Amino acid sequence: TRTQDEEDLPHATKKTMADHLRKYESLFTLTPQRMRMIVEAFKDTLEAGLEKPKQTVPMIPTFVFGWPTGKETGDFLAVDLGGTNLRVCLVTLQGDGKFEITQSKYRLTEEQKQEDGQKLFDFCAECLKTFITTNLEEGTVKEGELLPLGFTFSYPCEQDKIDHGRLIRWTKGFGAPNTEGHDVADMFRASLKKHNVPAELTALINDTTGTLIASAYVNPATKIAVIFGTGCNAAYMERVGDIPKIKNLGIDDQADMAINCEWGAFDSFEHEHLPRTKYDQIIDEKSNKPGEQAFEKLISGRYLGEILRLVICELIDEGVLFLGQETYKIEIPYALDTAFLSLMESDPTEELLMIIGIFTHFFALETTLAERQFFRALAKHVGRRAARLSACGIAAIVSKMGYLEEGCAVGADGSLYNKYPGFADRVHEGLQDIFGDKGRNIVTYHAEDGSGVGSAIIAGMTKIRKEKGLY
Ligand code: GLC
Repeated sequence: TRTQDEEDLPHATKKTMADHLRKYESLFTLTPQRMRMIVEAFKDTLEAGLEKPKQTVPMIPTFVFGWPTGKETGDFLAVDLGGTNLRVCLVTLQGDGKFEITQSKYRLTEEQKQEDGQKLFDFCAECLKTFITTNLEEGTVKEGELLPLGFTFSYPCEQDKIDHGRLIRWTKGFGAPNTEGHDVADMFRASLKKHNVPAELTALINDTTGTLIASAYVNPATKIAVIFGTGCNAAYMERVGDIPKIKNLGIDDQADMAINCEWGAFDSFEHEHLPRTKYDQIIDEKSNKPGEQAFEKLISGRYLGEILRLVICELIDEGVLFLGQETYKIEIPYALDTAFLSLMESDPTEELLMIIGIFTHFFALETTLAERQFFRALAKHVGRRAARLSACGIAAIVSKMGYLEEGCAVGADGSLYNKYPGFADRVHEGLQDIFGDKGRNIVTYHAEDGSGVGSAIIAGMTKIRKEKGLY
């Protein structure tokens, strides 16, 4: 029975919110059994990607050979074009496993993500030029000399050399025309030349590959690297003999090569394996790339806030939430950032004051305590599902490579991993649900800066290989 007090409230009562929550809980919950099924399908997909070219999960050979030794030395520039920011760094590797780094960050606008690709690379070149002029002491770059540059370009690129790569497709909401199908290393070279930047692009890398190498540089137990940021992806080291699709290249079978999985594409188009809700389907259909990056769309920071927002909008439509209030602000697509979910989950106050703040400040909406508790619980389910699905991806690599018994370290980076409360614990819990107690052997930890330091180390490794005549 409802109390008089609740009758008077224009908002939903505690009881109805609890009822709604039960429904969403069951939609977003992943049982251990379901997770194990996903892992099996994931493993087959990884194998298929290594077997043949042009698979949905492309398992890209990166031409980064083996682990770093720590003896790499020198000054390297790094440009990192990620999902949200552009970062420019100067990294000095000291040859004793240590490094120094200076960096600048620039935020990318939505327009820049959609304007002509060459313009985007021109912007990168201009930022790099400003950075060099501001940060490098005069005389660091001698007349006519070029500084080696690692370019971290975190989108799927098909490579047949370390310093070239053809963009297979944009991900993470990018759509710059005249770029897909093109060699992005050459495009960036053209921009460097046009702006007279004293830098030579020597390595084109993915952020996951950079993270793998940078993490192994400081923690040799690292076998896998994962990014949980605007996008979601993983890299690991594979024996060349176990990559059938590159057998004809004449590379030593025993050599190790890093693989950029591009696992965000798992279950794309077919949608056979992942538990997609109605909200996930809406996000997919309204995205600039329907059907693509099916796994990433359930996990990464670009989409989690939007999933929660869509549930809220559904309840507004059903007349459950915010009756009598102006709701247009929260009805704008992508208005609810994933950072809000982090805040909701970490609100330490009983009254959930931070959640009050989010809704009043950003959406001009008043909330009851019952509603705030509901939002927090909902965030937990959406965040937990993302972490448990991530565990499935990690488990697939672990199980394929046979790392479970001896255990391994997984270097992880990205805003979700670093800032979302409890994300890592939930991944670990997921790994135990999949593998039982042995799941404890797989431990994720905050990785080294892959796209800056990792890129420099790879540029350094490339320099050594070139000096040995190996490229
Ligand atoms: C997207 C990109 C991938 C990148 C990941 C994390 O999935 O396709 O290349 O590694 O985001 O940034």
